[in-house]
Amino acid sequence: MTAPNDTLNRPLRDLRISVTDRCNFRCVYCMPKEVFGSEHAFLPKSEILSFEEITRLARVFAAEGIEKIRLTGGEPLVRNQIERLVEGLAGIPGIQDITLTTNASLLTLEKVRLLRSAGLDRVTISLDAIEDGSFRRINDVDYPVERVLEGIQAAAEGDLHPIKVNMVVQRGLNEDQILPMAEHFRGSGHILRFIEYMDVGNSNGWRMDDVVPAAEIRDTVASVWPLDPLDPHYTGEVANRYRYRDGGGEIGIISSVTEPFCGTCPRARLSAKGELFTCLFAARGHDLRPLLAEDSDEPLAERIRTIWGGRTDRYSELRSAETAAQRKVEMSHIGG
Ligand code: GTP
Ligand code: 5AD
Ligand code: SF4
Ligand code: SF4
Repeated sequence: MTAPNDTLNRPLRDLRISVTDRCNFRCVYCMPKEVFGSEHAFLPKSEILSFEEITRLARVFAAEGIEKIRLTGGEPLVRNQIERLVEGLAGIPGIQDITLTTNASLLTLEKVRLLRSAGLDRVTISLDAIEDGSFRRINDVDYPVERVLEGIQAAAEGDLHPIKVNMVVQRGLNEDQILPMAEHFRGSGHILRFIEYMDVGNSNGWRMDDVVPAAEIRDTVASVWPLDPLDPHYTGEVANRYRYRDGGGEIGIISSVTEPFCGTCPRARLSAKGELFTCLFAARGHDLRPLLAEDSDEPLAERIRTIWGGRTDRYSELRSAETAAQRKVEMSHIGG
């Protein structure tokens, strides 16, 4: 049986699994040091789902309609031997695409090979600037851009294609990096995607004035390298796709703030401790962990169907000063 469509007639298709709430970066808009300092209480190991538990949950989700899995964090590669998890997930019938979002700091060629042979299809790499000083200021742990580029190179050598590079654009922080990033990745075969800065969580002090609208990003790029829109790959694709008219390849722009895409959102999110979130902006999740104590998968499946069938979320469409101020889960807790 597959889960019923939700109250807005959206099917359950994608599962984004956060495997840890930890990260070795402190990106200023995601895990600011003031909040995620040495005093911060990360999830204790005992509360984090094991690979076996995650695989079991994913198997049940797959039977309910999930076809695509994205591993996120925090930083998923800080979890030891994550390739073991990938291997388990790759064996689940119905799963067509397994991908991972990473900052690439731990993405050596050796790791890429392990992930690839375990069944990982591709990776998406977060990189918010190409100028070294700017990147170091954003990651706030003085991490050099060169090493991320080596990670991207390793992913390419190990055939984790197509490689997507995600750049969150924030006014005054890195908008000056839009053109240098475009220039760097043009012609590389990798797909650069510009993301509107969102009001996820409560720790980044988001203001509407910090958002560089998708239309502005597009015009900035197109003023130098003319662009033509491309059709989406599939309904509900998050990024609007464009190609460089001169053959320099493809870019994407993700306009979650100015043109929300809740209408087709098939995404469920699983936190590292086993809570199911039906929206990136939800205040709380549904704890599935107690159901893992049951021998049968049926109570778990039933719970997923009930939660999804009752889903009403469309936060980005409703976003207002009031909703922006509500308590929300942190991005590092449920991944991007
Ligand atoms: P592909 O499978 O490669 O198409 O990935 P994707 O398009 O789902 O993109 P990815 O997972 O890389 O997400 C990119 C960014 O889009 C995230 O970091 C978020 O900023 C934003 N995003 C992704 N999913 C959602 C969502 O459900 N809601 C909102 N508001 N933003 C999202
Ligand atoms: N707005 C948009 N994207 C964000 N990410 C983290 N915080 C935000 C935000 N406030 C992105 C990261 C990464 C993915 C995990 O989520 O840059 O690409
Ligand atoms: Fe870590 Fe990614 Fe958040 Fe940066 S954006 S702190 S790399 S999880
Ligand atoms: Fe989906 Fe919520 Fe994002 Fe809308 S805001 S696209 S419902 S996760």
